[in-house]
Amino acid sequence: MTGLDASVRSLDRARQNVPTAQFVEGFAEELPFPDSSFDLIHTSVALHEMQPVQLREILQQAHRVLKPDGIFTFVDFHQPTNPIFTPGLSLFLFLFETETAWNLIQTDLVKLLTEIGFQESKQTLHAGGSLQVVQAKK
Ligand SMILES: C[S@@+](CC[C@H](N)C(=O)[O-])C[C@H]1O[C@@H](n2cnc3c(N)ncnc32)[C@H](O)[C@@H]1O
Repeated sequence: MTGLDASVRSLDRARQNVPTAQFVEGFAEELPFPDSSFDLIHTSVALHEMQPVQLREILQQAHRVLKPDGIFTFVDFHQPTNPIFTPGLSLFLFLFETETAWNLIQTDLVKLLTEIGFQESKQTLHAGGSLQVVQAKK
């Protein structure tokens, strides 16, 4: 298992949590790995911090470094489908996030993944639609 982050502090924390994994400092939009080298790539609640161009580059890089039939999976914010959850998510994004998170919840990520070349994407929504879990197959 290999973890990548742009922040040395995040990597130090990750090394403490998972001492058996390898960790690499780098940018997700310039992954320092060869083509077709991973079976699975996961990112947890990080894509909402990326600018739209950067987001597309990251998804392209994930596609490049996955093996054929490899899986890209992520969890991140989503526009609530149950309006009861809208005030809570809006307050959270207003207090703790930037415009990139608001952009992300307006973005059809399944469509973007298809444009990039992923064959199939499965999206499941949680917490009144305010969180999405996506699995996309190369
Ligand atoms: C909100 S945190 C992710 C939360 C974490 N995955 C968790 O589940 O607790 C976002 C992380 O993305 C990293 N990051 C931000 N931009 C990045 C980039 N372009 N490439 C790689 N890592 C990046 C930050 O350093 C930070 O560690």
